[in-house]
Amino acid sequence: MQKEIRILFVCLGNICRSPMAEFVFKDMLQKRGLSQRCHVESAATSFEEVGNPVHPGTRRILSQHGISCAGKTARRMTAQDYQDFDYLIGMDSGNLRAMRTICCGDPDGKISKVLDFCGDPSDVADPWYTGDFQATWRDINRGLSALMEQLFPETMNR
Ligand code: 4NP
Repeated sequence: MQKEIRILFVCLGNICRSPMAEFVFKDMLQKRGLSQRCHVESAATSFEEVGNPVHPGTRRILSQHGISCAGKTARRMTAQDYQDFDYLIGMDSGNLRAMRTICCGDPDGKISKVLDFCGDPSDVADPWYTGDFQATWRDINRGLSALMEQLFPETMNR
């Protein structure tokens, strides 16, 4: 039995981008029969939206693709998350700064930005400010496809 890979997606509020990443990646895993191989969660760097459900813009675009995020409410990440997860993946440079503060650095090199996985130094723009959930969807799918390929190269033609 292979070790379960633990992945935490992180953004500022945990209502728009990181829950989109959480539920898209869970869907990708399920479609490849890999759900048992990864544990996936998402969290916020701020306290702003703690306890609140996923933003309607993210809910809508997920549901258009047949993906449910029912029951998800925002939580703030903690220093303990650094011990509990193998990958802590933020959406933008501000997230990464805040994550390193919360985690007291990144001694194990676990923190990255989602578009790093496709060799793109860009941030995923925050649809809370831009209103463009479609652009968020495209960027997150690009990053997550590359993450999937890195973690499970043998499954890419499934
Ligand atoms: P997210 O978007 O980080 O993608 O979840 C935001 C949601 C809420 C706030 C900021 C960004 N806020 O300031 O409440």
